[in-house]
Amino acid sequence: MSVVGVHTRPRVLIPADALARRVQALGDELSLRLRDAPAPLFLVLMDGAFMFAADLVRAVHLPGLELRFVRASSYRGTSTTGTVELAAVPDLRGRQVVLVDDILDTGLTLAAAQRAVRDSGATQVATCVLLDKPARRRPGGLAQADMVGFRIQDVFVVGYGLDFDGRWRELPYVGAVA
Ligand code: IMP
Ligand code: MG
Repeated sequence: MSVVGVHTRPRVLIPADALARRVQALGDELSLRLRDAPAPLFLVLMDGAFMFAADLVRAVHLPGLELRFVRASSYRGTSTTGTVELAAVPDLRGRQVVLVDDILDTGLTLAAAQRAVRDSGATQVATCVLLDKPARRRPGGLAQADMVGFRIQDVFVVGYGLDFDGRWRELPYVGAVA
């Protein structure tokens, strides 16, 4: 029996070793940027950023680091719905927050998340994304992130946490589905 379609592994766009090197560099940069923050709080947007965040927090050296997760969703299949559903953000009064997401696409998710973080009382918000697709930005979306792992073309990507309707998150690399 030939196995095609959903079982075809996505082609490699960013291999695992390149991801590891870049995530370590982002970790080093964050360690430097936040070295004087008394209790930096990393707020991770779920589900897509889970693998990136897991590696990122192990690459930073910040003794007072606090890690929290908030669920955000806007996608059905490969198209954005345009409306961002964001779960309640914790009380962030006086905190220096790093918002961590898998990818900056239209920018609507991070714009909404950044607003919510500010409304929650954070004194400072930095945004850190693994991937950036600048060609996809929409009006009202976050124009750019403070820290970016890789800029990529406008292709739908999966793996290293990113999914296509719940699939391919477990891949150790970033792959393209089309
Ligand atoms: P934005 O609000 O359009 O910037 O989209 C952000 C969210 O959409 C990300 O956190 C991802 O979860 C998802 N997303 C955007 N592009 C892709 C992609 O190419 N593959 C998988 N998920 C994506
Ligand atoms: Mg996401």
